This record gives sequence, structure tokens and C-alpha cells, in this order.
Amino acid sequence: MTTSEQSIDSLLRENRRFAPSPEFAASAVATPDLYEAAKTDRLGFWAEQSRNLLHWHQPFEQVLDWSNPPFAKWFADGKLNVAYNCLDRHVEAGNGERVAFHWEGEPGDTRTITYAELTADVKRAANLLLGLGIRAGDRVAIYMPMIPETVVAMLAVARIGAVHSVVFGGFSAESLRARIDDAAAKLVITADGGYRRGSVAPLKPAVDAALKDGKSTVQHVLVVRRGENDVEWTEGRDLWWHEELGKVDAEHEAEAFEAEHPLYILYTSGTTGKPKGILHTSGGYLTQVAYTHRNVFDLKPEADVYWCSADVGWVTGHSYVVYGPLANGATSVIYEGTPDHPEPGRWWDLIEKYRVSIFYTAPTAIRSFMKAGREIPLARDLSSLRLLGSVGEPINPEAWVWYREIIGGGQTPVVDTWWQTETGAIMISALPGVTETKPGAAQVPLPGISIGIVTDSGEPVPAGSGGLLVVTEPWPSMLRGIWGDPERFKETYWSKFADRGYYFAGDGAHLDEDGDIWLLGRVDDVMNVSGHRLSTTEIESSLVSHPIVAEAAVVGASDETTGQCVVAFVILRAKKAKSVTPEEASEKLRAHVAEQIGPIAKPKKVFVVPELPKTRSGKIMRRLLRDVAEGREVGDTTTLADTSVMQVIAEGYRKRGGEED
Ligand code: PRX
Repeated sequence: MTTSEQSIDSLLRENRRFAPSPEFAASAVATPDLYEAAKTDRLGFWAEQSRNLLHWHQPFEQVLDWSNPPFAKWFADGKLNVAYNCLDRHVEAGNGERVAFHWEGEPGDTRTITYAELTADVKRAANLLLGLGIRAGDRVAIYMPMIPETVVAMLAVARIGAVHSVVFGGFSAESLRARIDDAAAKLVITADGGYRRGSVAPLKPAVDAALKDGKSTVQHVLVVRRGENDVEWTEGRDLWWHEELGKVDAEHEAEAFEAEHPLYILYTSGTTGKPKGILHTSGGYLTQVAYTHRNVFDLKPEADVYWCSADVGWVTGHSYVVYGPLANGATSVIYEGTPDHPEPGRWWDLIEKYRVSIFYTAPTAIRSFMKAGREIPLARDLSSLRLLGSVGEPINPEAWVWYREIIGGGQTPVVDTWWQTETGAIMISALPGVTETKPGAAQVPLPGISIGIVTDSGEPVPAGSGGLLVVTEPWPSMLRGIWGDPERFKETYWSKFADRGYYFAGDGAHLDEDGDIWLLGRVDDVMNVSGHRLSTTEIESSLVSHPIVAEAAVVGASDETTGQCVVAFVILRAKKAKSVTPEEASEKLRAHVAEQIGPIAKPKKVFVVPELPKTRSGKIMRRLLRDVAEGREVGDTTTLADTSVMQVIAEGYRKRGGEED
């Protein structure tokens, strides 16, 4: 039995159960009858959710058009404005004075922004974009820190029917450039910098580098002042956000767009080197993010203070920092910086200070807090919390229980939510007032969502076994495509089970005897590091682009804190690498990947090896490298062209400290 099989085995023997308290259940937003309603009439259920949760400028009649699979249309004859739904209608309903965001900067500066203020800011920003020639359908790249202007920028783009492509601020100039070019963006919105670990991390230089050859489609760069650091300026192209906003009209009326009007593109890693631009549209997306945000988090908008710790550069930030909470009129916390700055209790201070009642974060963060020690959160008053959520990677039962006990005071329900950039919104999760929760399991599809765990040929697996996770029916917030590449869209998600019309998620899962789902991680060449998706191929391409590298293989090895970590094996070019030691090569290459893709992709370790394990047909056997990187005995090597190679690699790995840190 391998280590991962052992851990799956112990995971499935987890038998602690936590039923919702009667008090929680009595006032819960989501009730058991949702399951029944969705089962009886799935499309009718979604139509009702959409009508209840959103304002439609032109009501829809049609719910789902699946006549041309896998290209779905939801609510296609309806019209709405996404920003109006997130802003104006709350003000018109008399909730303008409700706080939309309690924002806290890393240095401790704060801003409280009401719905009325946010609406006014977005109206002005919409006029600014129009003034710069941005029109419905144009793409706008947003490369920003976690500051209120980022949300304003996204909503202003949405308000005028343009399409945003938010690029995580930790990505390199090269990654930014690739995303700007793929979407042919006309405008970039950025900032001089943002605070991280006590100093200003600049952003503008990466934008300048991305645009330096002057060949891109970008006409203007809007720069928000945050870091007060010096920036280079390209006259005619660069504009200060605050100066330009002062010049435009305050009034802007939201125009209605078709439900299938594109809302945003968000790039995510796939199994090939090139990131995929996942496309989301308006009506279906907003319906499902609002529905899940309300029901999974038991949101009472008048009373709750909600905090999702994700950066808006990721899908969790799009759906559960921006669109879901604002569509529901929630009050949220946004924090700019790192969890442990200036000291390790910063997050818990924020929960105490703002009386946060609903908190949503990733298992990696929970595990690093466990490491730092329970005394840190226990020294704060976290009694305002009444619900905790987890997202992004499998949560091990120990972390789940620690989260509930130490952060949730042994009282709060914990919901483990499974979804993806592609699904747009939560798909599998307990309902907090309904489901008896199991630490480590995401459990049940939400009402209205159809999930299967199937064999390689698409047959449902019996209870008590593992298989591949598929979505068997279209859902409102499903991706509508990969930007500019319909073939890749079909091939990646719909070809594996083409005859059945299932969406293939790329995850393995186990179905237990009660019918509950346990996620077991990716089954493809995608790694999950700290809840972020990274492609092995993309990092391999980056490594081989360095002149000293002849060949590279990357694997995701298990890591106690980050779930997985990136481990690379490289063969050096004899001539070019003559004067570097393996240690120097390793450091150089780690820095190279960080610079090319971004620090999140930086391999934890790079090992110089004389050869890579390959099959007779030349395919690298990553499974064997993973065995080495995880410190296991190397498994079956019979299909290797040269069986001695693994011995050499394993010995070298052990010698060079593969088992430390
Ligand atoms: O492998 C699954 C894992 O994260 C992948 C999706 O990554 P991304 O598109 O970056 O979105 C992350 C935030 C939604 C999935 O294919 N994943 C996400 N949530 C969970 C999870 N794995 C286990 N349990 C989860 N709750």
C-alpha cells in the first residue's frame, strides 16, 4: 500500500459526525425541502432561485437551452445588469447605508464603504471607462492588490458590459503579458503597489514590462495610487485613476444586457503549458453565486459580517468576495495583506474587531495556523463566529476538527465546499442547518446540482468505492467556454464521457456507504499547492526555457501544510552548465520559475539528475518521481526503458537532503 492509499484509508475510517444544533437548524436559511423541490423540477427550481435572488430588467421565459451541447444558454431571453444587481437595487431598496465592505489595509489603515458609496464609486468608474473608449464586449485586464478600487474596477467593467480578466497580483510580467495578449485587452487597471509583509510590493513595473514592446492591444493603463512608491510613466498611455475619476460625471444609468453576455475571463492552469481563459457569463453565473452564497453560508444580510479570505485574483475572490456577497447585499470584510503580518494573530484580530460571523478560507491556511499554535486564536474573542467554510483543496479531518474546535469554539458548523474556476460556484457542500457533517468529506451535491462518481467508462461506482467526479447535468454558473478555443473546451471537459454528455472535472472521488462524497485530488497533471492550481507542464516548459536545462520533469509531492508542493527533476546541458554546481543550478532555476510564472509556482526543490525515468515510448513516469519526492520506496518499474535510473535518482535525492524541511 502506498502512503497516499494509506491516508485515503485512514480518511475513510473517520467516523466523527456533527449534527447541526437545533437552534441553528431552526433559523437556517436552507431547509431540507430544497432538495425535494430541485428533484421534482430541476429547471423550475433554478428559475425560481433566479427570479427570487436577482432583478431582471427583462424577465426570462426560457430556463435552459441545451440544444447545442456543450454550449449551454441559461435564461437566454432575459436581460439584466450584473452591477445593478450588486449595487443600485440595494440602495433603491433603502439599504444604501448598509456597509458593503469593511476594508483593512495591511499597515492598519481602514475604510468603511456603504452600498450607497460603492454604487457612486462604480458609476463614476463606469463613466471613466466609457470615456476611455471601452465598450460592451471589450476586455479589460485588472492587476491589483486587495483594495476597494479592485472591486470598483471589476463592477465598473461589468456595469458597461465589458469583460474583465483579473490577473492575480503575484503573477509575473510574462504571465500577465500572456493573459493580456490572449484576451486582446484594451485597458489595464493596476496600482502603484500593495502592502505585503510590511513593505510595498510594486505592480506597475510588471505592467510596464508586459507592454514594453508596444505591440499589445492595450491603449491605456489606469493606475490606482496605493503604495505611494515611485512609478515609471508612459505619457499618453498611463493615467492616474484618482485624477481621471475627478473629471467624469457622477451619474450613470445601468443598461441591461442579455443573460448570456460575457462577464469575465479568468485564467487557470490546465494539463498543457498554456493557461485556459475560462469564460463566465452574466445571468446564470450571478444566480448560482447568489444562491450558494446565501444557502451554504446561511447568510442573513442584515445581521451577518462575512469574510472570505481569498484574493480576488482567484475564482473564490470573484464569486465569494465580489459577486455572491454583493448580489445578496451582505456586509463583508476585505483584508489587504498576509495572515501573519505584523504578527501571527492578525486574522483573528480582524475577526474580533469586525465581529465576523461567517468565515471562509482554505485548508492550507488552517494547517499553518495549527502549526503556529492554538494559543494564538484562543487569546482572541472569536465568539461572533457562527459558521465556517473551507475551499480549494481536500481538508484533512484533523484540520477540519481543529477549525471547528479552536476557531469555531466547538459550536459552529463547518462546510467543506467543492467547486472549480470552471464551475463558477459551489457544487458540493453540506447545507449547514440540514446536513450532519463529516470531517474530511465535501459530502453532497447542492440542491439543483447533479454529480456522479463514475468508472473510466462512465458507469456509476457502487457505494464504498472510488471513481472520477463528473457533473451529469448542466448548471447555471458553468463555464461557457475557453476564450478563443472552443475545441480545447470540448476536448478538455466533454470528450472523456462524450456519449453521456458528462462534464469531467479532473478530480478523483470516493463515494461512501451513506452516499457522501470524499474528494481525493486531481487525476491529471494539475497540482494543487495551497489551494491554487498549477500545471506540471507549464512549470516544465519554464524550466526547459532556461539555457542550462536539457530536460525537466515536475511532480506535485504531498506537503504537510500546502497540501502539495512543486518538486522538479532536471537534466542539465553538459556544456552550458559546466561551471555551476547542482546547488547553484537548483537555486537559479527556482528563481527562474518564480520570475517567469510567479512566486506561487516556484519549486520547493529542484534536483539535478543524470536521467529521467521514461517508458519505452519515451513518456516520463511521474508516478515514480512522486514516489521519490514523497520518500517512498519506488513502485513498479517494469515499464521503464532503463530500470536502473530510478535507483540513481532515489539515491541522489536522499543524499541531497530530499527528506529535510
Ligand atoms: O481539485 C479540486 C480542488 O481544486 C480544484 C479547482 O481549483 P480552482 O479552479 O483553482 O478553484 C479553487 C477554488 C474553488 C478542484 O478541481 N478543490 C477545490 N475545492 C475542493 C477541492 N478539493 C477538495 N475539496 C474541496 N473542497
